[in-house]
Amino acid sequence: MNVLVSIALPDDLISKIKSEHSVTVHHGNQPMDPEELRSLLRGKHGILCTITDKIDRELLNNTDRLMVVANYGVGYDNIDLEACTEKGVLVTNTPDVLTDATADLAMALILAVARRVVEGDLMVRENRFQAWTPFGFLGSEVSGKTLGIVGLGRIGKAVARRAHGFSMKVLYYNRNRLAPEHEQDLGVQYVDFMDLLQESDFVSIHVPLTRQTRHMIGTKELAAMKSGAYLINTSRGPVVDEGALVNALRNGHIAGAALDVYEREPLVHPELLKMKNTVLLPHLGSATSETRRKMAQRAIENLLAALRNERPRDCLNWEQLNKATP
Ligand code: 8YV
Repeated sequence: MNVLVSIALPDDLISKIKSEHSVTVHHGNQPMDPEELRSLLRGKHGILCTITDKIDRELLNNTDRLMVVANYGVGYDNIDLEACTEKGVLVTNTPDVLTDATADLAMALILAVARRVVEGDLMVRENRFQAWTPFGFLGSEVSGKTLGIVGLGRIGKAVARRAHGFSMKVLYYNRNRLAPEHEQDLGVQYVDFMDLLQESDFVSIHVPLTRQTRHMIGTKELAAMKSGAYLINTSRGPVVDEGALVNALRNGHIAGAALDVYEREPLVHPELLKMKNTVLLPHLGSATSETRRKMAQRAIENLLAALRNERPRDCLNWEQLNKATP
């Protein structure tokens, strides 16, 4: 069968697909534009895609043989799952393998924004470090503070475990509350969303982007945050209303924001770029060599299983497609 791979994966991994199928790889550092994607997808039975490939209804209407969309990533808001299901196309993602890397980055952002790591680094590089001073460059203590986790899925839980290493009190808000014994094991306390915002010194977002979570953090929610608190986002940019965040930072209500994702990625709100109390990363959550390789392996396993008419390990719409479970 014919497969399109939208990123230049290592040769040994591409060979795995080549051992069963004919493969077209999109090389180059820039994502495919929609027209290129549409034309390359014609005649393909499967695609291994990334967040920068928008798999929407219009694109799907232009495909003729597509059987599977194997997403390289756990979040799949780049894919219209409903339209794929209607078209009989399987969709898979790569959970688990990037949990630790993303949770590590959330902790890195908490520490960086609270302790002014990026600002300090810049000061040294620009030869502005004149002398140690007792009350210059003060940040906020992290140890012992309250962390509010919005979305306690795999990554949220991994962040909670890390936060205990910093003696933080961990609150969480999630659609579904954990069983009491699981809350106890994880050392987390369930609170209403608004209470979480009011009580947390650091609010870290770990929800997927859905219709319900788009702009979940807006003007009202930012105003509800404790004065002097910090916002961390390693999930998806549109969960936060960036304009509202700029206002909350500008009026000093919140002390800082550390973001790995943006509302109009890769564009970043120009005001965020000017602020000293923001830490801004280029969507690095899963960016370690180990994790990215595991993500690729997992996406390939899923893709190959689907093309063999087997149930892929991480299929998001198997039941919806009324496939028989082997
Ligand atoms: C990926 C991510 O880098 O997995 C996710 O949801 O956001 C990142 O880890 C990205 O999705 C690549 O496609």
